[in-house]
Amino acid sequence: MRQTDSKQASRLELTVLAPPRFDVQEHAIGAAYGSLATGSSLVLGDSLAVMSTLPAESVQTVVTSPPYWSLRDYGIAGQIGLEESVYAFVANLADVFDQVFRVLRPDGTMWLNIGDSYTSGNRGWRAPDKKNPARAMSLRPPTPEGLKDKDLIGVPWRLAFALQDHGWYLRSEVIWHKPNAQPESVRDRPTRDHEHVFLFSRSEKYTYHTDAIQGPGGRRLRTVWDINTKPSRAASGHFATFPEELVGRCVRLTSNPGDLVLDPFLGSGTTALVAGKLGRRFCGIELHPDYVDMARNRLIAAGFVDTTDRENNTERPCIDAV
Ligand SMILES: C[S@@+](CC[C@H](N)C(=O)[O-])C[C@H]1O[C@@H](n2cnc3c(N)ncnc32)[C@H](O)[C@@H]1O
Repeated sequence: MRQTDSKQASRLELTVLAPPRFDVQEHAIGAAYGSLATGSSLVLGDSLAVMSTLPAESVQTVVTSPPYWSLRDYGIAGQIGLEESVYAFVANLADVFDQVFRVLRPDGTMWLNIGDSYTSGNRGWRAPDKKNPARAMSLRPPTPEGLKDKDLIGVPWRLAFALQDHGWYLRSEVIWHKPNAQPESVRDRPTRDHEHVFLFSRSEKYTYHTDAIQGPGGRRLRTVWDINTKPSRAASGHFATFPEELVGRCVRLTSNPGDLVLDPFLGSGTTALVAGKLGRRFCGIELHPDYVDMARNRLIAAGFVDTTDRENNTERPCIDAV
C-alpha cells in the first residue's frame, strides 16, 4: 500500500525530521535529471525544454501559477505571458501542459492557478505602479479579436477549455478568495478579490485524499477557499508569490510523502518550499536566474540542504544564502 499522511504517520515523521535536500541544475541539451528518481531539484531553464527531458510518468502532482497574460514583464527573453494575442498565450501554455501530462503518473493531477485580465480599452501602455513595478508595461497588446475594449477576457476558462481539448479531465474549479485583496481604482464594476485554481487529472481515477484537508466546521472541503495573500520576506522582489497555505492544501490532497511534486513556473520557490516541508520531493523549473537564486536561498533559510556537486562543476553559481 502506498504511504499516506494519516495512515503511516511514523514514516512521515522520519521523512520530516531529515532536512529536505535538493540540488540546483542548469538546463543543457542532453540533460537527463536522473537525480529526480530519488531526490529534488531546482532547474534553471525554459519549462517546455526542461520537461521534454524529464522521465515520463514520474510526477504525482503539479502545483503551479504560470505568468498571467499581458500583466507582468519578468524581464527575461523566452518568458511566457507577453504574447501579442491571448490565443497564442493559451496555445503556448497548452503545449507546456502537454509535457506536464506526459510526465505525470497515470493517477496524477495538476492544480493550476491563473488570473484573468481586461482588454486594454485602447490604452497602449500601463502606468507604473509604485507598489508593483513589474506591472508597468511599455506596451500592452491590442484588444483580442472577437472581444471589445474593456471586456473581461476570461483567460482562466479559455485555458481550461484548451486543456480539456488536449485530453485533461477538468475536475474542479476552486475560487481562491483573497479577503485582503488590494483595492482597485475602477468605479464601474465590483473590485476583484478572487482568482481561479483548477484541478485537472490525467485519468478518470486519480489520487485524492478527501480527508487530508477539512473545510470550516469540520465539513468536507468546499470550492471557495478564503486565503489571504501574504508577501513573503524571503520572496520579496518577486511579484506574484503563492500563499503557502494554498499550496499546502493542494499538495496534501493529491500526493503522499516521498512523491515528486512539480512546479514548471517556480518563481520564488513556494511550491518547492511547501512540498519539502510536507515530506514530498520537488522539481521546480524557472527561467529567470535571479528567481532560481531567490528560491534556493528561501529553501536554505528554511533549513533545506543544497547538495549540488560544486567540485565537479555541475552547478550554476548562486549568490550566498541570506
Ligand atoms: C506567477 S510567477 C510564479 C510565482 C510562484 N508561484 C511563487 O510562489 O513565487 C511565474 C513565473 O514563471 C516564470 N516563467 C515565465 N516564462 C517561463 C518559462 N518559459 N519557463 C520557466 N519559467 C518561466 C517567470 O519568471 C515567473 O517567475
